[in-house]
Amino acid sequence: MQLGLLGYPIQHSLSPWIHNQFSEQINQLSEYQLFEISQDKFNDNVSELKFKKLDGFNVTVPYKQRIIPYLDELDIYADEIGAVNTVVCKNNKWIGYNTDGLGYVVGLKSAYPHLFSGDKKVLVLGAGGASRGIYYALCKEKFAAVDLANRTVEKAAHLLDLNQLKDAKSEVFSFTEAEKNLANYDLVIQTTSVGMKPNDSEKIIGLDLLSKGTVVSDIVYQPFTTRLLREAKTRGALIHHGHHMLLYQAKLAFELWSGQQVDAEQILPQLTQKIKKE
Ligand code: ATR
Repeated sequence: MQLGLLGYPIQHSLSPWIHNQFSEQINQLSEYQLFEISQDKFNDNVSELKFKKLDGFNVTVPYKQRIIPYLDELDIYADEIGAVNTVVCKNNKWIGYNTDGLGYVVGLKSAYPHLFSGDKKVLVLGAGGASRGIYYALCKEKFAAVDLANRTVEKAAHLLDLNQLKDAKSEVFSFTEAEKNLANYDLVIQTTSVGMKPNDSEKIIGLDLLSKGTVVSDIVYQPFTTRLLREAKTRGALIHHGHHMLLYQAKLAFELWSGQQVDAEQILPQLTQKIKKE
């Protein structure tokens, strides 16, 4: 298969390694190229990509929305979220999907299946692009509540539109309120870039009222263990590292391209080592 990644900057991406592992699993020769395109050349370079015989490609920051006008079809899930991270090229058509949120949820289910039974309550921190996909996917699960908190509360309130079918009970809080209510939640998910290298001393909220046994999840995977996760662990929480989302969104993308199932758990230890070394 001819695959690739569109984004900027992407030189340090782990996606080529992940997709090469998946290709080996199904004994298929693949090439996963990096299409590092700067913002001012986006239009011309994406038009050129149409002439390459690609089977599919991933889209990352900052182009997940900007790619949409170039697509022939948009999956309903990607349409609702308003962002595309995976394009399938088939019969000269580009079809856009979003595997970020669902990938996150599949990875979480694999690590902590107990969260998906009984009336569990979830708090999502952040209301940016990553949060949209995660919140949308969580609303489709049977949680007792999927609440949101964000520095700019109005922005979190806008995300409630993604839950139009009222699949989940949702409330919006400020960070101060979230910190006070922390003991109510079984799962707390950090979806912003706060705490990412080189700002690894940052932490999005205080964890004083966190209960033991709560799962704290951070989508940041550089550093491997963020300050938030470190402190959560000290307080007796169970932690879920950011590389799970990276891996599982890739698994779902690869399955869309190849039509075959691949095993993400099998490469998780090696991916962990790679991230820890960087
Ligand atoms: P992405 O697409 O990567 O999610 P984004 O759409 O720019 O990026 O969203 C960034 C998210 O991180 C937002 O929720 C933002 O909060 P605001 O809506 O208040 O801007 C949050 N964020 C970024 N820096 C932050 C910081 N220092 N403290 C708290 N939240 C922060």
